[in-house]
Amino acid sequence: MYSDKVMDHFKNPRNVGEIENADGIGEVGNPVCGDIMKIFLKIENNIVTDAKFKTFGCGAAIASSSMATELVRGKTLEEAWDVSNAAVAEALEGLPPIKMHCSVLAEEGIHKAINDYRVKKGLEPWVEKNPHSHEHEDMTCQH
Ligand code: FES
Repeated sequence: MYSDKVMDHFKNPRNVGEIENADGIGEVGNPVCGDIMKIFLKIENNIVTDAKFKTFGCGAAIASSSMATELVRGKTLEEAWDVSNAAVAEALEGLPPIKMHCSVLAEEGIHKAINDYRVKKGLEPWVEKNPHSHEHEDMTCQH
């Protein structure tokens, strides 16, 4: 059911933990399954210099957070914002359709953390342009 990459990131998740004095923190939850993901970003000169996560959720959510934090590291805020759930799933060599919504949590967590940083800096938060961002709210999670 799962690709080797998903299993690798589930068994050996990268960037687990918290960043002390993180510049941006994003916490998102899936109201259906109750899974929760918290993303921490360190941002210097508009670059994501560090990214960590804590996920209380299913294997696909853990693998997605691991991959998402890997993908945003070293990127500008604009590039990090554009890391979509589809890009996370693709980097994981695919997720089963019923599990795609788990990767949406990662995208949302990154977005929330970026906007947390922007608001703290007195900047306008960026607007979600991804229409499927809340798709998971209507879906039943299957662990
Ligand atoms: Fe709830 Fe994956 S995030 S089942």
